[in-house]
Amino acid sequence: MTILITAGPTREAIDPVRFLTNRSSGKMGYALARTAAEQGHRVILISGPTDLDVPDRVDFIPVESTMEMYAAVEHRIAKADVAIFAAAVADYRPAHVSEEKIKKTGGTMTLELVRNPDILGSARNQFAYQGVLVGFAAETEDLEENARSKLESKGCDLVVANDVSRKDIGFDVNDNEVLLVFPDRTEQPPKDTKQHLAHIILEHIIELTPVGGPN
Ligand code: CTP
Repeated sequence: MTILITAGPTREAIDPVRFLTNRSSGKMGYALARTAAEQGHRVILISGPTDLDVPDRVDFIPVESTMEMYAAVEHRIAKADVAIFAAAVADYRPAHVSEEKIKKTGGTMTLELVRNPDILGSARNQFAYQGVLVGFAAETEDLEENARSKLESKGCDLVVANDVSRKDIGFDVNDNEVLLVFPDRTEQPPKDTKQHLAHIILEHIIELTPVGGPN
């Protein structure tokens, strides 16, 4: 199968030396990409900047901004049987990117931001994607409820949710604990390494595909 994965943070330039970004190591997305490639799937990894090594045998598409990630996904998603959106995408970008380094002036400074497109939210409508669609939800409260509303509003088959207010899981660490929110049920695999959780998540995802399912 062909599996498209977005991973890492996006970067939104303010001027030549500054940018806005989200907190994300990219570890979960890369672990999924590595596992899927090891299982013999064709993997298209569209990633914002990270410190991670690119897994062997993946088709690697590096991007910086949300708009670049959007275009990269738009061009390739039709080829994918499964699309997994693990990237921590910046929801806003500066309205104007200064060509010169911005000099400090007064005691305060206001930056005007404009909304970025929702890449996952564009899959079903703008991209007319019909394959298996998996989103991630990073939440600090009402984990299951917020994940379920993302599942429904973005037309996903699965949302992998994690509580980013917990220090022992999530950002920068190797362990994670997730809720798997499906349209008809929720499952909670035990806390585990991101690499092992990637195996478990991928198993659930493959079951959602026509070849992986019971029929
Ligand atoms: N996502 C995306 N494009 C965006 C924002 C988010 O593709 N512009 C994807 C992420 O990769 C993730 C999912 O949407 O799979 C959830 O992202 P999250 O930031 O948690 O949720 P939002 O939809 O941005 O909602 P909110 O900020 O209101 O929580």
